Amino acid sequence: MRAGSALAAALLLITAVLLPGPASADDPQQDAAATVENPSGATAASGYTKKGADTCLKCHDDESDTLTFNLAGLFKTAHARRTDERSPFGSGGLQCEACHGPGAKHAAKGEALETINSLKANSKLPVAQRNEPCLTCHQDQPRMAWHVGAHDRDQVACADCHQLHVQRDPVLAKPTESEVCFRCHREQRGEFQQASSHPVRFGSMTCSDCHNAHGSVSEAMLIKPTVNQTCYTCHAEKRGPLLWEHAPVAEDCSLCHSSHGSARTAMLNKSPPLLCQQCHSQAGHPSVAYTAAGLPGGGGGGSIFLLAGGCTNCHTQVHGSNHPAGAKLLR
Ligand code: HEC
Ligand code: HEC
Ligand code: HEC
Ligand code: HEC
Ligand code: HEC
Ligand code: HEC
Ligand code: HEC
Ligand code: HEC
Ligand code: HEC
Ligand code: HEC
Repeated sequence: MRAGSALAAALLLITAVLLPGPASADDPQQDAAATVENPSGATAASGYTKKGADTCLKCHDDESDTLTFNLAGLFKTAHARRTDERSPFGSGGLQCEACHGPGAKHAAKGEALETINSLKANSKLPVAQRNEPCLTCHQDQPRMAWHVGAHDRDQVACADCHQLHVQRDPVLAKPTESEVCFRCHREQRGEFQQASSHPVRFGSMTCSDCHNAHGSVSEAMLIKPTVNQTCYTCHAEKRGPLLWEHAPVAEDCSLCHSSHGSARTAMLNKSPPLLCQQCHSQAGHPSVAYTAAGLPGGGGGGSIFLLAGGCTNCHTQVHGSNHPAGAKLLR
């Protein structure tokens, strides 16, 4: 961390021109003891530095860039938008300290992690406290159910998914979002590699098409109240209205489909006839081959209904039918 590098100097200049407060880089020790107001109007007594970002940038210049920390990156994000009053760098904003909390003590001493909220897993602060600064500004509609969601319950932090110091946060882009999720959800990575699966691995679809990572009141944090309503957002034709409904379809798509993917065609849980025989007995026409003799050519007469996974060869309209004669889902 070498103060005075070209980038830090440029940033200092920008903040000096656009933000209130003197341009000169004073001794941080003075900031800690300062009685003068910081750009936001917060007083030093509350633990905030006098000059906000200018103080931090003296030590945290581009020489201190790491994989997750890119100083120039931060200044290209929505958070550094000076024209947006709601943003940390908007006029009157607390700048770095809007997220990292009061930093005067830290700025005076440098090092000591206890003196600053790193927002990362290395922080000694409990997760709820780490998330608090973010929720101060972001407890809006998309995160209404944050506190009932599985992620809050299981101590997942905002910064476990979000990177704030890079120009493009990977979790916000469709092709890269799932990689962030797979860091913790390994089993699901496997499911989306199956022969038949939603095209997440091709980047044309992603987890947040069906889930709200910020929590929801639905099962599995789905974006809609039920599994079916979630599916209808894309497969609208399955909603009907249908003249002849197939009861389980209207009830829950996941009775027959694995939502992420499966080794069978059409992401089916089981292959017909087994799939169908979970619910349908022999009533009407034989649908169960009790012995090999029950198959055609088996010597016992045999049932043609069981050939080649059978059922859907004739009952082609498994999702329901609009044909006047489609009661048996045959057309
Ligand atoms: C006097 C130099 C100095 C100033 C001024 C300073 N820091 Fe630091 N900061 C450091 C050093 C050195 C570390 C590394 C601590 C460690 O690794 O133990 C650090 C660590 C951090 C960390 C945690 C990094 C991690 O890896 O967990 C954050 C966040 C941070 N500083 C933010 C700020 C903010 C915000 C300001 C302005 C309010 C600020 N710093 C001002 C020297 C400074
Ligand atoms: C919008 C919130 C936000 C603002 C504003 C912000 N940070 Fe951060 N900062 C974070 C988060 C979250 C992390 C955790 C690392 C990450 O992004 O994944 C972090 C990490 C850091 C780290 C540790 C980086 C590492 O790789 O270990 C330092 C140092 C730091 N910030 C300094 C600053 C300074 C200096 C400023 C002001 C110029 C600032 N931050 C402004 C949210 C913010
Ligand atoms: C001082 C208020 C404030 C704080 C604190 C704050 N944000 Fe923001 N954040 C904003 C504003 C304003 C925007 C821009 C919103 C918009 O454009 O509608 C934003 C945008 C975002 C975005 C979207 C970025 C994009 O490119 O679309 C994410 C993600 C985000 N914030 C996460 C966080 C996280 C995580 C934290 C805590 C580490 C945090 N924010 C802290 C005010 C804040
Ligand atoms: C499990 C991963 C994950 C966690 C944890 C997480 N987010 Fe997000 N966040 C996402 C994803 C994915 C998106 C983009 C898709 C979307 O908007 O649902 C996003 C989008 C956002 C956005 C921009 C769009 C919007 O919803 O306004 C903001 C702001 C945001 N997150 C803030 C936060 C805050 C604050 C926290 C912590 C309380 C947080 N996030 C925790 C994954 C996460
Ligand atoms: C830091 C680790 C972590 C990351 C990253 C993460 N999750 Fe999670 N997620 C968890 C934990 C822990 C749980 C709760 C235990 C469980 O169900 O496995 C969970 C649960 C879930 C659940 C089940 C909710 C329920 O009510 O049963 C869904 C859905 C989910 N996560 C989606 C996502 C999505 C989408 C992403 C990426 C945007 C993501 N997760 C990223 C840790 C993580
Ligand atoms: C097409 C919609 C859809 C997509 C895309 C999707 N999920 Fe799901 N997910 C569901 C449904 C529906 C459930 C509820 C379980 C069920 O009934 O099948 C679920 C359940 C889960 C669960 C709870 C445990 C389980 O398997 O039942 C986790 C964790 C999860 N999803 C993570 C993810 C992750 C991570 C991604 C992105 C890689 C993702 N999901 C993409 C629909 C989806
Ligand atoms: C965001 C849009 C979207 C949502 C939501 C969605 N799907 Fe899909 N679904 C797709 C796309 C895209 C395909 C791939 C179509 C293709 O490959 O031609 C697909 C394909 C399928 C397939 C056929 C797979 C195959 O191999 O033929 C099934 C079955 C399916 N989805 C079931 C569901 C279920 C069940 C849900 C609800 C849990 C759901 N979908 C939610 C977009 C979506
Ligand atoms: C009773 C079992 C069952 C239920 C319930 C079910 N499906 Fe299917 N689905 C099937 C079968 C069997 C196939 C394969 C059809 C074939 O091979 O001709 C299929 C195929 C599909 C396909 C790919 C072919 C096509 O028709 O577009 C999609 C998409 C699909 N289902 C979506 C859904 C959705 C959405 C729901 C919930 C509204 C749902 N399914 C409920 C059995 C079911
Ligand atoms: C989760 C249970 C379940 C599964 C799995 C299931 N069905 Fe059904 N099916 C039903 C119910 C319930 C009805 C309505 C029965 C009634 O109205 O008496 C029904 C009705 C039907 C009917 C119309 C029957 C009539 O008397 O009008 C046909 C044909 C049918 N199913 C075929 C299939 C086929 C083919 C499959 C496999 C692809 C299948 N079903 C899978 C539960 C299921
Ligand atoms: C060769 C064509 C064919 C195959 C294969 C077939 N069905 Fe049928 N199924 C029919 C016909 C035709 C009817 C209507 C019979 C009637 O109206 O009396 C029917 C009727 C039904 C009914 C309604 C019950 C009744 O008594 O009307 C159910 C349930 C059913 N089939 C389930 C299945 C299942 C499960 C399978 C797979 C194990 C299957 N079918 C395979 C032709 C077939």
